[in-house]
Amino acid sequence: MSRTVDLTTTYLGLTLAHPFMVGASPLADHLDTVKRLEDGGAAAIVLHSLFEEQISMAESGRIHQMDPLDCQFAGALAGFPLPERYALAPDEYLEHLRRVKAAVSIPVIASLNGMTPESWLTFALNIADAGADALELNIYEVVTDPTQSAMAVEREIELIVKEVKRHLKIPIAAKVGPFFTAFGHLAHALDRAGADGLVLFNRFYQPDIDVQAMTATPHLELSNSAELLLRLRWAAILHGRVRCSLAVTGGVNTPTDGIKALLAGADGVQLVSAILRNGPSFFIAMRDGLARWMESKQLTSLHQVRGKINGQHEHASILERANYIRTLQSWQGADAAGDPRRSAD
Ligand SMILES: Cc1cc2nc3c(=O)[nH]c(=O)nc-3n(C[C@H](O)[C@H](O)[C@H](O)COP(=O)(O)O)c2cc1C
Repeated sequence: MSRTVDLTTTYLGLTLAHPFMVGASPLADHLDTVKRLEDGGAAAIVLHSLFEEQISMAESGRIHQMDPLDCQFAGALAGFPLPERYALAPDEYLEHLRRVKAAVSIPVIASLNGMTPESWLTFALNIADAGADALELNIYEVVTDPTQSAMAVEREIELIVKEVKRHLKIPIAAKVGPFFTAFGHLAHALDRAGADGLVLFNRFYQPDIDVQAMTATPHLELSNSAELLLRLRWAAILHGRVRCSLAVTGGVNTPTDGIKALLAGADGVQLVSAILRNGPSFFIAMRDGLARWMESKQLTSLHQVRGKINGQHEHASILERANYIRTLQSWQGADAAGDPRRSAD
């Protein structure tokens, strides 16, 4: 690795050797892989999420206050996996966390997924006691109730962050999706609620339809670099405007993607698909690719890189509209009749 550039970054108050870390996934489910990830150059590890449903089922035998043995809830609860289908039960998750912490010297971030500000959140305390350096709150919700307003949904997410922050001494990050009417407003609310970081963005998994079986089927594909653009946009808009750290997750598949995330304003960059495709040593390729690029630009520290592409402007919304119009005009393909289009510029 280059000696002339300083790649260290601060994410959630933690000092990382460089910005590239393992995103929440089964990648860190086995201790031997965890060690390979550290040897492969990962700067930190986020464990897969423990789900609200697992915790409330283990604690009270219920999911979302519904008793699985009560037949009136059978339909609603049928879609959840049986407890044995999860990789780790809540107690096992804590034990795994302790072992991962003992096995590596890089920061280890646990992850909790849920959507209600209820008692399961106190489980976060056990996670902190088990030695996690930080906690990522993975907030994933598709709001289907037409009586629930956007404001109420955002308020609920804010309450989750406040509630966890009230109990916990370790830093917390909120991993959220992009589909909010005014995401900037939510980001600021979570920042004020005490989030130490925002993770941009949760992917929106959409079931496909199997036309032979005529059923909806779960659908998970690894990402491609095109998904990164939405993250770049929001990192650039939020950088310097929120107190908390920013991480990008989604679509970082090459060293150039990683550099773009930093230029947009990310303090940390999470990778899952790229590591599943290329193996743990891809972290070295990411780190060295960044170092070489910085050298080629005569940059010596990440301070000179982070947030260089600025999304802020007094008239940002107007500029976004101008961008929209210019983007449509930039299409240079053939029109429906096969006539080549003139470039707008
Ligand atoms: C197999 C798999 C399992 C995942 N499990 C989790 C999880 O438990 N919690 C979570 O917050 N994200 C989870 N994710 C999402 C990733 O953390 C990440 O946000 C997403 O894959 C986009 O990043 P990428 O483009 O680097 O893959 C998972 C992704 C994959 C592919």
